[in-house]
Amino acid sequence: MKSLSTLLSGIPPSATMAVNDKAKRLKAEGKDIIALAGGDPNFDTPKHIQDAAFDAISSGDTHYPGPAKGTNASVAAIANKFKADTGVEVENSQIIITPGGKWALNLALGAIVNPGDEVIYLEPVWVSYPPMITLAGGVPVAVSLPSDTNFTITEELLQAKITDKTKALMVTSPNNPTGRVLTRAEADAVVKVAVENDIYVIFDELYEKLIYDGGEHIPLVAEPGMQDRTIIINGLSKAYAMTGWRLGWIVAPAPIAKLAAKLHSQTITAASSFGMKAVVAALEGPQDDVAMMKAAYKERRDFMVAALNDIDGVECESIEGAFYLFPRIDKGLNSMELANGLLEAGVAGTPGSAFGSSGEGHLRFSIASSMDDLKEAAKRIKAYIDSL
Ligand SMILES: Cc1ncc(COP(=O)(O)O)c(C=O)c1O
Repeated sequence: MKSLSTLLSGIPPSATMAVNDKAKRLKAEGKDIIALAGGDPNFDTPKHIQDAAFDAISSGDTHYPGPAKGTNASVAAIANKFKADTGVEVENSQIIITPGGKWALNLALGAIVNPGDEVIYLEPVWVSYPPMITLAGGVPVAVSLPSDTNFTITEELLQAKITDKTKALMVTSPNNPTGRVLTRAEADAVVKVAVENDIYVIFDELYEKLIYDGGEHIPLVAEPGMQDRTIIINGLSKAYAMTGWRLGWIVAPAPIAKLAAKLHSQTITAASSFGMKAVVAALEGPQDDVAMMKAAYKERRDFMVAALNDIDGVECESIEGAFYLFPRIDKGLNSMELANGLLEAGVAGTPGSAFGSSGEGHLRFSIASSMDDLKEAAKRIKAYIDSL
């Protein structure tokens, strides 16, 4: 038989898989496992968004959408949101609606990366960035953000990884897995390094609506010198509890959007037609449900951060955004050993090493689960850690 794809064969299996597979096996055996390893809100999609999609389907909106990269109404809804949130005006041609934020990231990389180009990402990193860079033909380059500064980005750390092959820098705020939100100083560092070295910034804002305590999201695109070099990734999955709908978008400078649209049309064609109606309903409809879910995450955060900090050997920073806690656990075990042990004790968390070397020593717990589950999980985590 002829050989298979070396590109794909070279991609390591997800480090989260081992724990997830084990969690599934234990559940199938009837064991009671509280799953805090994923990133899926436990809320239903707001009713008015569901209705918009049902109405679209029952009125025959079930054909290839046109324009395929986004219907006029859905693209206009994104352009309006973008203007309101960033102050930056974009043409409709700069927007592509994608099946989830994940495909938006692939479009961004596909449009800018040539073989051998280096793309910098920040560790701890959401697990899919490095494989996506590799699949686009690029070379993933990690900047390890130190745990003891709560993963603060500095100009020096970024600058140290810049070479003449650097094409882009990927930044996520609010961050998965750390829950950090980009500060003014960090944004300044990113902008300075990007502009001075003439590189693109892929800015993943998927959790932008989930920022707590009056914190602010800094839209990098609106910073001086950034409009022509910032590619924005966003979507409905997290803030609108729509992970299964697969709806996201990219907003990119015109030449990048043009190439991304080519990749989009030659691969997946379009996001779903009725999904585009859901985009309009989500962005232009009432935002009360988003506010309600955010308030619930904040309450869960406050409970869970306090509960974790109450355990000897656990240090948990409160989070500014998104819905993951990333406590450091100092009990002489590595994060994979901790995740495995905790799973036996009835809680699935993600080992910090899955997010790169600077995540070692941490576990990630999603707080997008019910308060009842979190209360029970906190008891089990304490009992397990105390037993070590
Ligand atoms: C930082 C980040 N970006 C992108 C995504 C992908 O989102 P989607 O489900 O919309 O593809 C996720 C999902 O967990 C994420 O955490």
